[in-house]
Amino acid sequence: VAEARRLAAEAATLDELAEAIAAFEGCPLRAMGARQAVFARGNPQGSLMIIGEGPGAEEDARGQPFVGQAGQLLDRILTAAGLLDEAFITNTVFWRTPGARTPTPQEQAACAPFVERAAALLKPKAVLLVGASAAKAALKTDEGIMRIRGQWREWRLSEGGIAAPAIATLHPAFLLRQPQAKGLVWKDILDLSVRLRSEVVE
Ligand code: URA
Repeated sequence: VAEARRLAAEAATLDELAEAIAAFEGCPLRAMGARQAVFARGNPQGSLMIIGEGPGAEEDARGQPFVGQAGQLLDRILTAAGLLDEAFITNTVFWRTPGARTPTPQEQAACAPFVERAAALLKPKAVLLVGASAAKAALKTDEGIMRIRGQWREWRLSEGGIAAPAIATLHPAFLLRQPQAKGLVWKDILDLSVRLRSEVVE
């Protein structure tokens, strides 16, 4: 983690951060069959940072986050809310997990300095945590996603300080299986959109 933190701190731009991640050997997932590092896509000047769980098979093949089925649904939701152009989209880990399992807290911790550095460089007005795994990692809680979602919380950096106000919502992969939960996500996204459009700075 010290090495990740040093490399992340040296990156002066999001492009340099992407290069640092691609060269980083310290995440155990890297040696578990991933084809490439998947860092981010979207607006590097956007006011919204989105953090998902981790790349799946499609993302691993294409080198971009959220480009599979779940990602397409996420884009449709963001487009409907008028937020897609504001979004900078990344994940808690940058390499595909074997068999699409949930990344472990250790794997997330190995990548966290880069995620935090991305937030420091982007300076988003708000962060959307997509799914239980991202929400638990960023908010450092074991509370269930149904409990955490829809509430504004502070995303605290591991070295102290607050990255940005964060709101968690359900994962689009879950929505593909449980479409009746879309109303909850829509509620969270509207809340997010109100916050992004307000002039209030916290
Ligand atoms: N699910 C995620 O959480 N992230 C991706 O990038 C793709 C699917």
